[in-house]
Amino acid sequence: MGKQITPKVTWVGKIDWELKTFHGDELSTHRGSSYNSYLIRDKKTALIDTAWIPYDKEFVAGLKQEVDLKQIDYVIMQHNECDHSGALVELMREIPDVPIYCTAKGEAIIRGHYHKDWNFVNVKTGDTLDLGDTTLTFVEAPMLHWPDTMFTYMSGENILFSNDGFGQHYASESLFNDMVDIDEVYYEAEKYYCNILNLYSPMALKKIKEILAMNLPLDMICPSHGIIWKNNPTQIVEKYLQWADAYQENQITLVYDTMWQSTRLMAQAIAKGIQKQDPQVRVKILNAAKDDKNDILTEIFRSKAFLMGSPTINNGYSYAVAGLLEMIKGLKFKNKKASAFGSYGWSGDAVKQISEKLQQAGITVVDGGIRELWVPDQEMLDKCVQYGQDFVKAIE
Ligand SMILES: Cc1cc2nc3c(=O)[nH]c(=O)nc-3n(C[C@H](O)[C@H](O)[C@H](O)COP(=O)(O)O)c2cc1C
Ligand SMILES: [Fe+2]
Ligand SMILES: [Fe+2]
Repeated sequence: MGKQITPKVTWVGKIDWELKTFHGDELSTHRGSSYNSYLIRDKKTALIDTAWIPYDKEFVAGLKQEVDLKQIDYVIMQHNECDHSGALVELMREIPDVPIYCTAKGEAIIRGHYHKDWNFVNVKTGDTLDLGDTTLTFVEAPMLHWPDTMFTYMSGENILFSNDGFGQHYASESLFNDMVDIDEVYYEAEKYYCNILNLYSPMALKKIKEILAMNLPLDMICPSHGIIWKNNPTQIVEKYLQWADAYQENQITLVYDTMWQSTRLMAQAIAKGIQKQDPQVRVKILNAAKDDKNDILTEIFRSKAFLMGSPTINNGYSYAVAGLLEMIKGLKFKNKKASAFGSYGWSGDAVKQISEKLQQAGITVVDGGIRELWVPDQEMLDKCVQYGQDFVKAIE
């Protein structure tokens, strides 16, 4: 069922309270999500984006309650990952000749997914589509976060449709940022940025600056997931400028895995040393295997430094730590310092291997880390406390 946003724009998407993971199991979505689609009714009628495949029939049925599909003049596809293009087949079955406006890369991606010969119109930055009283202007935003991504600015109502940009996996029946728990929304926006967009931060910075330089009046930002930024919409743009620029807070995060608790004891002792050396810094300790991987990555994203701990297992590090290291490499965090720690029994390879992996991921590894044999006694734990103190000095 549609929800009126402005006199001319109606939200016609799907709120997905059930979604708990996205991209297979790559991304946790504890608070669900939404696939936002927008219907613009001016002298001409345009639909911006659709919904995810499992909801294609529901989406089209809801759209029909809102508008006679025959009245749709244009379909605008800003980004063609299947969470947004998934309902196209169901929709285009009913209106096969309606032009689909998208970038050239967008057309290739739609063809690659659905293998249909629809009426594509390729658009570039600066191209416009006149709807009557309002005009749509397209802005290509390649790699934010796919090659096909574009934003759409609606003059007349001063809305930026930003697709995944500024979005959050957050289910909410209220659509606007001033009607929700904004701390939850910000956490989800940051988690989204960290896990999906951070590796494209240079492009994000450039694109945001380019759009800001256009000096467009902005009343609302309508992303394709989560709530709409209506009250002070530039607040999320300012956040993005911070997140895209080697973001960090005064936080140090310790992430460890453990089989028999020794590496946990080390983590706790190191944390004690960090706190002793710098009582101002926020310290968090997370378990690589028990805490959610994407929440762990978000904590690392907001840290100035982190420590990664693993016992040595089969001449290497643990499965959970391996997964995190792989993800850290992919996300391309900037301006972060780190080191490794862990308990071992004989060969003790984990610490060195973690350090190497971190270095390869572009993290500044401050020293060779610390390892302790078997279960640490008080003397070993004191060494860990001292290591924590030294770590703080090393990152200053
Ligand atoms: C399945 C298994 C494999 C292990 N492989 C190694 C190894 O290859 N090299 C080594 O130094 N220690 C190895 N260890 C010993 C552990 O590193 C040692 O028990 C350590 O204290 C465990 O730390 P934790 O209590 O944090 O799990 C292994 C232990 C287990 C249970
Ligand atoms: Fe996407
Ligand atoms: Fe998306």
